[in-house]
Amino acid sequence: MIIVIIGAQWGDEGKGKIVDLLADSFDIVARYQGGHNAGHSVYVGEKAFVLRLLPSGIIHEDTTCVLSNGMVIDPKAFFEEIDQIREKGISITPERLKVSSRAHLIMPYHRALDHTSEERLGNEKIGTTLRGIGPAYEDKAGRRGIRVADALSPEVLKLRIERNLEEANRIIVLYGQPPLRADEIFSEIAPLVERLRPFVSETSHFLAEAKKQNKKILLEGAQATLLDVDHGTYPYVTSSNPTAGGASVGAGIPPHHISGVLGIVRTYATRVGEGPFPTEMLEREEDMANLIRQRGNEYGSVTKRPRRCGWFDAVATRYAAELNGFDSIALTKLDVLDALDEIKVCVGYQINGERVDTFPAVAQDLIAIEPIYATLEGWKSETVGITKLEDLPAKAREYVEFLSGSIGVEIGLISTGPERDQTIILPDSVMESWFKS
Ligand code: GDP
Ligand code: IMO
Ligand code: MG
Repeated sequence: MIIVIIGAQWGDEGKGKIVDLLADSFDIVARYQGGHNAGHSVYVGEKAFVLRLLPSGIIHEDTTCVLSNGMVIDPKAFFEEIDQIREKGISITPERLKVSSRAHLIMPYHRALDHTSEERLGNEKIGTTLRGIGPAYEDKAGRRGIRVADALSPEVLKLRIERNLEEANRIIVLYGQPPLRADEIFSEIAPLVERLRPFVSETSHFLAEAKKQNKKILLEGAQATLLDVDHGTYPYVTSSNPTAGGASVGAGIPPHHISGVLGIVRTYATRVGEGPFPTEMLEREEDMANLIRQRGNEYGSVTKRPRRCGWFDAVATRYAAELNGFDSIALTKLDVLDALDEIKVCVGYQINGERVDTFPAVAQDLIAIEPIYATLEGWKSETVGITKLEDLPAKAREYVEFLSGSIGVEIGLISTGPERDQTIILPDSVMESWFKS
């Protein structure tokens, strides 16, 4: 069985918590795109983990984790994260962590180029995580990237760094930064690649063999549908394909081997960085945004930037459900809304006076959206830690049903807090069957 987990909004929906929860019933967890721009927080008792590059399954010592070909890997960040997780008592060995020889490396000049690219854009900057993600994918598409397999040969690594840096330095110098030195980059990266060598593997073959042996595989999406480079709010997106189709390419598995797609949806929306956000709580709703930010702890787990907060957007989420083919949805952060008198849900868009029910392609149209809201009554009582649907206040159940109806997909899990056991799993849902089988 292969299940893909995908963020339905602009990221930070709580993918980490749900992957961690499911990982117990799965043998393998693989990431298929992105890099250390992700920040997946997982709480286990007193311990807090923030997974950036490593799959959230790494916390379960019986789970094998894979960094697949579709990822971009910063070798320094990779070992920093491994060291941090090991400090918390988790054993990480090449037996349980496999890195694709086809994944691309993020080099120090990619980080520098992420900075210059944002500077060049000025007011139109993307608000990237500045981790070098975009420039590394540019090199991949430009057929000059350095793959893990290439870097394992020191001569090739050296030549590629020299060749790529010549071009990168032209841009870096243009923006008034000192040029980087190829020999320094080589001496920093070469030992890290040596340390990486035992982890390197043919990961798609590994996954194919695991599938043959009927192992259960979870594909952990990072970022989210509306940040997808093809389907998101372009150009305010990340440079990879977090959507379900991307999982096949990025993990190197046949699409028809995927048995199910789980969407992670939050009861409201947030966005980090720039770009259109139709249901954003602006100045008029600043107090509400602050309340949600404070109750939901909405600060970037990587960059610590305060997340922009907004109401649930049914049009955007329906778009995500259609694109990814969600079989079930995990609805997170119900408890964050406990204090609200009224909750708004965007049920349609108006652009220049005209009703639009589909998600627009052009950033200008997305900016021009006037959301049409339905207003639901809040439940004004605590739902934190509730584990049974029947224990939820009636109005909270109504809210959940309203969201499910407006997306057109079952909600199979409701999350009522950051901890593993603060979860309702709905009996007889598709989601429940994934835990069991
Ligand atoms: P991800 O990037 O999708 O994995 O999400 P993040 O980890 O960046 O952000 C989600 C945050 O919400 C994390 O701090 C989680 O611990 C927390 N979280 C997840 N589910 C719930 C929930 O149901 N209630 C509350 N209050 N917090 C949650
Ligand atoms: P998780 O996996 C939220 C956003 C950045 C920026 C845009 C491009 O934790 O949900 P990039 O550095 O990827 O080139 O930045 O994408 N972004 C995220 N926003 N959650 C994430 O990951 C994100 N990863 C990237 O803020 O707007
Ligand atoms: Mg996150």
